[in-house]
Amino acid sequence: MIVLGIETSCDETSAAVVKNGRHVLSNVISSQVDLHQKYGGVVPEIASRKHVELVMPVIRQSLDEAGISLSEIDVVGVTYGPGLVGALLVGLSAAKGLAFAKNKPLVGVHHIEGHIAANYLDHPELEPPFICLVASGGHSHIVYVESYSRFEILGQTRDDAAGEAFDKIARAIGLGYPGGPLIDKWAAGGDCCAMDFPRVRFSDGSLDFSFSGLKTAVLNYLNNQEQKGEKVRTEDICASFQKAVVDVLVENTLKAAKIKKVRNITLAGGVAANSLLRSQLKEKAAAAGYGVFYPRPVLCTDNAAMIACAAYFEYLNGNVSGLELNAIPGLRLGEK
Ligand code: KG4
Ligand code: ZN
Repeated sequence: MIVLGIETSCDETSAAVVKNGRHVLSNVISSQVDLHQKYGGVVPEIASRKHVELVMPVIRQSLDEAGISLSEIDVVGVTYGPGLVGALLVGLSAAKGLAFAKNKPLVGVHHIEGHIAANYLDHPELEPPFICLVASGGHSHIVYVESYSRFEILGQTRDDAAGEAFDKIARAIGLGYPGGPLIDKWAAGGDCCAMDFPRVRFSDGSLDFSFSGLKTAVLNYLNNQEQKGEKVRTEDICASFQKAVVDVLVENTLKAAKIKKVRNITLAGGVAANSLLRSQLKEKAAAAGYGVFYPRPVLCTDNAAMIACAAYFEYLNGNVSGLELNAIPGLRLGEK
C-alpha cells in the first residue's frame, strides 16, 4: 500500500511517499526557518502564504523522487491538527483536492500521532504498547501508545512546551532561532552543574511538566549577572538549562513506563533530537531494563513521512475521513 503524506501544520512544507507504513520512498521537507528567523519565531501569516507557494511543487517532487505516479497512490494522509489554522488548511485543501480528483481515500492525521509514528519508520520491529515522550515546539506529552491508533495522555506541560523553553532561552541569550539545536551545541562545551536551575515536580504524583519557572530562573540569573557587571558563560547556561529540562523529561517518562508496565520507551518530536535527552534516556532506561527507541533527527522534526506512516495504520484500522474534514488547531490526541 502506497501512502502520500502531507504536512503543513507549522513552518515546514512537507510531502512524502511511504510504502506499507514502514518504508520511506521519499520525504521532501521545505523548511521556512530562514523566513521566520528574523522574527524569533513562526509568523502564522507568512507560514500560510509560503505553504500556498510550496505545497504543490513539494508534492510533485515527493512523487518524482519516489518514482510513483499520482494514480499509484492508494491513500492520501494529511495533518488536520493541531497547528496553525491557516497553515493546516493549505495542506488539507491540497490533500482533499488530490483525493477527490483521483478518487482515493483521505485520512486525517493528528500531528502528534505522526510524531509518534516516526518511530515505526526507523524501527521495523517496534510495536505498541509502549510509552512515548513527545516533546516539540508546541507539545510536551507523555503518551501511553496502547495500539497503533489508541493513545492515552499520562502527562503534559502546564505552561511552556519543552521546545518552546529551549527557543525562549536561546533568544534571551542571543543565540538565534530555533533555539533547541543551538543550545544543544553550546551545551556540549559547558558544565551542566554550573548553575542549579529548578526542576518542577508535582507533589500529587502527576506526570505533568512545568517549564515556565525554569525559564524565569534563567532570565533572572542573566539579569543579575548583567546588573553585577559579571560575564556569563553561555556554554554553562546552556548545559545547566538543558540538564534541568532533560532531568524532568526522563524522570517522568520512566515513571510512566513503570505505571503502565511496558517494555519499551520511545522519543518523538523536535526535542527528541536533543543529544542529552537521547543519551540520558538510553542510559537510565537501559539500567531499568527498558528498550529505548528514537527516530533519526530528520524524522524527529516536522516531516510528512511520519504523517504517511500514521495514516497507513489509521487506514488499516478503518479510519477514513470525509471531504468535509476541517482543520482543528487545538485538536487533542485521541479525539477524532
Ligand atoms: O516537532 P517540531 O519540528 O515542531 C513542532 O511540532 O513544534 O519541533 C521543533 C522544536 C523547536 O522548539 C526546536 O527548538 C526543538 O524542537 N529542537 C530541539 C532540538 N532540535 C529541535 N530542542 C532541543 N535540542 C535539539 N537538538
Ligand atoms: Zn511537530
